[in-house]
Amino acid sequence: MPAYPRTRPRRLRQFDWSRRLVREHALRVDDLIWPTFVLDGDPAPQAVASMPGVNRLGIDDLVQAVGQARSLGIPAVAIFPVIDPALKTPRGELATDPDNLVCRAVRAVKKAVPDIGIICDVALDPFTTHGQDGLLVDGRILNDETIEVLRQQAVVQAQAGCDVVAPSDMMDGRIGAVRDALDEAGLQRTMILSYAAKYASAFYGPFRDAVGSKGALGGGDKRTYQMDPANTEEALREVGLDIEEGADMVMVKPGMPYLDILRRVKERYGLPTYAYQVSGEYAMLMGAAERGWLDGPAVMMESLLAFKRAGADGILTYAALDIAERLRG
Ligand code: PBG
Repeated sequence: MPAYPRTRPRRLRQFDWSRRLVREHALRVDDLIWPTFVLDGDPAPQAVASMPGVNRLGIDDLVQAVGQARSLGIPAVAIFPVIDPALKTPRGELATDPDNLVCRAVRAVKKAVPDIGIICDVALDPFTTHGQDGLLVDGRILNDETIEVLRQQAVVQAQAGCDVVAPSDMMDGRIGAVRDALDEAGLQRTMILSYAAKYASAFYGPFRDAVGSKGALGGGDKRTYQMDPANTEEALREVGLDIEEGADMVMVKPGMPYLDILRRVKERYGLPTYAYQVSGEYAMLMGAAERGWLDGPAVMMESLLAFKRAGADGILTYAALDIAERLRG
């Protein structure tokens, strides 16, 4: 490029039309995945205090809200169950019960809104008394024993109508094991979105409030299975393993503090790659907006665009409904 004054980058920024003409990235409704929280029974919506604007919904309200997402053009929703503490057990047996809350919610949503994608986590934390994603014995999370349970959990969820199972537990070898279990059950068409590079992050706090696993977890953490925030090369190895084991899509989580990881994963593997703008990221933006310190919709849009710039094919965001409405204009 010739130097200034021949080159003046501001020339192209003069007008709205010229800015639009040279714009490199765009956020579309097709990029959005909406994570939701479902309650048992038929309760009124319950606000999540640490996530302004997010409600936990009973199944009927969820079905209605997913219908709204569908009519706004959102391609897929993720459904997270809020399990009654009285039903939690040390081994999380309810996770593999075909009539558990998440399976019932999936069946109801699938029936009422058949043409939206349904994604479910595969992990035990909503169902265990200790709030860990796997089986806990003598202070250790058992890997291979946990995988046996995850295989069954994935199958019951897929049989209920879940289109995409999303193992979020970070056990070694779980993607291959879940793929085999699905195939053996005749569920070859069920997709796997792997939480491939999932970090042991403090940004999950508000989510754990929303699903009620924080109290269960107590002072515990997930550092023996979720990744160390200090690591990059290990994230690439994790993603590589999940792809070899049969992941159709991969995810990096959290989002904004890990944009570098997202970029490198997308560049290295080229698979459909998703970013999870997690609960703590949402809380930071919306909490500041609530106080009038930030322009909420503007910072949300800018953050979501950052994921596109970094290479994401899509984003899980609690703001999906609102953003879809705005993108429609
Ligand atoms: C469960 C799970 C978590 C999130 C998604 N699935 C929490 C955790 O691993 O402790 C976090 C999502 C968010 O913070 O928005 N394994």
